[in-house]
Amino acid sequence: MKFFIDTANLEQIKEAQALGILDGVTTNPSLMAKEGITGEENIKNHYKAICEIVDGDVSAEVIATDFEGMVREGEVLADLHPQIVVKIPVIADGIKACKYFSDNGIKTNVTLIFSSGQALLAAKAGATYMSPFIGRLDDISTDGLGLIEEIRLIYDNYGYETQILAASVRHTMHIIDCAKIGADVMTGPLSAIKGLLKHPLTDLGLAQFLADYKKGN
Ligand code: E4P
Repeated sequence: MKFFIDTANLEQIKEAQALGILDGVTTNPSLMAKEGITGEENIKNHYKAICEIVDGDVSAEVIATDFEGMVREGEVLADLHPQIVVKIPVIADGIKACKYFSDNGIKTNVTLIFSSGQALLAAKAGATYMSPFIGRLDDISTDGLGLIEEIRLIYDNYGYETQILAASVRHTMHIIDCAKIGADVMTGPLSAIKGLLKHPLTDLGLAQFLADYKKGN
């Protein structure tokens, strides 16, 4: 499973990259705003800065909601850097734009997926990735991981190559469950990624090894 970090924070991206396990980055307009990145030029420069830190795909979301606007914006974003993936909402014009981009060799991430029907349309439109938001479904007492399972089954039935990018990951168990189900990618916060390291027996065992070493040296 690929590990993407879900942030626009350059320090956190650098920290995850330094761990050597990072495969890419996802952003959205809310994450950019959280870092205080506003204005077209600043936003574009920030995407370029992210691409310079990581080796993998970097999702950059369009703001337009009409086909022509999404195509115009997406082409500008894709021209910024070869690692840019154009992120498009799963609305009718978004599906049309996804088909346009996939026909023109531009990578896409269809976002705000909350149902298998939306996932099916994204795959048929040739999306590179599509992002079901598991945490937001859990927030409204709906089984987010169950959606990933259903989409995995549907995609495997037909051999769709669109990658399931589990998004809105909130904690370490989401990551482990996504890996068990067979999500192709998960995107989560640095805290959830680093949380995978935590085990009290590891801490105790290491402390014991170091104490025993000190006895003999
Ligand atoms: C990433 O592609 C999504 O925009 C993001 O994971 C949404 O996460 P949230 O539900 O925590 O805002």
